[in-house]
Amino acid sequence: MPMPKPRRDRSIPDRLRVLLVGGGGREHALAWKLAQSPSVEAMFTTHPSNPGLAALAQPTGFDFSVRELYRLAQFVTHERIDLVVVGPEGPLAAGITDLLASDTCAVFGPTKAGATIETDKAWAKQVMHGASVPTPDARIFKDAAGALAHLEARETAPVIKATGLAAGKGVFVPKTMDEAAAAIHTIMDGDAFGNAGRELLIEERLQGPEVSIFALTDGRNILILDSCQDHKRLGAGDAGPNTGGMGAYCPVPEKIFDAKMMATIQREIIVPTIDALRRDDIEYRGVLYAGLMLTHAGPKVLEFNARFGDPECQCLVQRMQGDFAKLLYASATGQLASIEDFEQSNDAVVCIVLASAGYPEKPTLGVPIMGIDEAEAMEGITIFHAGTRIEEHGPKAGQLLTAGGRVLNVVATAATIADARTKALAAAEVIQFEGKQYRRDIAWQAVGEKVRTAP
Ligand code: AMP
Ligand code: GLY
Repeated sequence: MPMPKPRRDRSIPDRLRVLLVGGGGREHALAWKLAQSPSVEAMFTTHPSNPGLAALAQPTGFDFSVRELYRLAQFVTHERIDLVVVGPEGPLAAGITDLLASDTCAVFGPTKAGATIETDKAWAKQVMHGASVPTPDARIFKDAAGALAHLEARETAPVIKATGLAAGKGVFVPKTMDEAAAAIHTIMDGDAFGNAGRELLIEERLQGPEVSIFALTDGRNILILDSCQDHKRLGAGDAGPNTGGMGAYCPVPEKIFDAKMMATIQREIIVPTIDALRRDDIEYRGVLYAGLMLTHAGPKVLEFNARFGDPECQCLVQRMQGDFAKLLYASATGQLASIEDFEQSNDAVVCIVLASAGYPEKPTLGVPIMGIDEAEAMEGITIFHAGTRIEEHGPKAGQLLTAGGRVLNVVATAATIADARTKALAAAEVIQFEGKQYRRDIAWQAVGEKVRTAP
C-alpha cells in the first residue's frame, strides 16, 4: 500500500480517523464523547472486550500489549490513523507517544519524558520545587534504614509514597508511627512494588478538601476543564481502604472551590509547571491532572498525573461541548489557541462506581449483571463499562458478566449536584449483580452533608 503523504499543513482536519488506547470506564467515556464528534470518520479500540467500547469502535484485530507497541505503529500506518487518544498512564510511560506521533499522526498524551511527572514522584517534586509550585515538604529515601531513622525524628505520622507507578497502591496515609514504619517496609522490602519501590518519599501530612484539576495543554496554551472531587475510600464517610476511585462529581461548588481559587491554581500551579517542563525540553501535550489539597495555606499539589482521572473523566465529558476529537487533536498538535468555541454545559454531574464483591483486595469476577438496559433508559443517565465482558461460550453465552473490581460507572446529569446524585442512586439500584458495592454519599461535600474526616 502506498505510504500516506506527510501532512505538513497542521491545521485541524475536518475528518479524523481515531484510535483509542485503553479499556476501562474512562476510555468508554472518551469513546462516547469522541463518537459524538462530527469530525470522527472512524474509531478503533485496542480493547474490544469491553462491551461499551465494542459498541462504539472497531477492533484493531490484535491483543494490545505495551511490550508490543510496534504492532500499533503498523496499524496506525495501515489504517491511516490521524489521532491516537491514550487513556491510561501505562502506554504513556512506555513511550507510545514517542513511537506513534508523526507528520501524519497526532497523539493525545505526553511523551515518555512528559509522563515522568506521574511515573516518578521524586522527579515531580524536583520540578515543583524548581518552579516554586506549592506541594507538601518531602524527603526522598533509597533505603529502609534511612527512611526509618528519619521517621524516628518526626512527631506525627507522615505520608509514605513509593516514587514509581504503583497502580494507585503506592500511597500510605498511616495513623500511627508503627503503621508508617510498616509502610516503609512494605515498599522497600521484598518485591511488592518492583521498580516503583526502589525509592520512597516521606511527606508532610496535610489536611483539607481534595480537588482534581484537569488542564488541557499543547505545551504552551492551557485550557482548564472543570474542577472535580474524587472519592478514593471504599466506604461511606470516606472510610475503609483506598481504591482507584468510588465516584466523582463536577463542578465543585463555590463554597469549596471558587473562581478565585481556580485562578490561583492556574497562575501558581498549572502555568509554572508547564513552563518548567518546557525549560526541561518537554513540550507537554495532553492533559495535566493535578491532585490538590486545599489547605489553610492555600492549594498544594499532592500528585500530578499525565492522563485524565478515572472516574473524573466520566463526569468531565458530560459537560464538554463542541467537537471533542478536534479539541484533543489541537492539544496534540500545538493548536489549542485556535479552539475558540470551547464551552461547557450548566449540568451538574455525579458518577457512582459499582464495584465487585471483595474490591479492592480480591474482587469476585464472572458474576452475571442485570438491569443495564433499564438503567440506561432512565432520564439523564449514561452507563459506562469499566470491568465487564460478554460471555462467549457455554450456558451463559451472551450474558454480561463482571470482569474487574470496578464494574460499571453510573453517570447522572441534572440541574443540581443533589438531583444528579438522587438520579444516579436510582439507576445504581436498578443494576443488579451479586455482591455489588457502591457509595451512596458521593458528592457529600457538595450536597452539604456533615463534614466527615478519614479515620
Ligand atoms: P496520591 O496518589 O499522591 O494522590 O495520594 C492518594 C491519596 O492519599 C490522596 O488522594 C490523599 O487522600 C492522600 N494523600 C496523599 N498525599 C497526602 C498528604 N501529603 N497529606 C494528606 N493526604 C495525602
Ligand atoms: N481518580 C484518580 C485517578 O485517576 O488517579
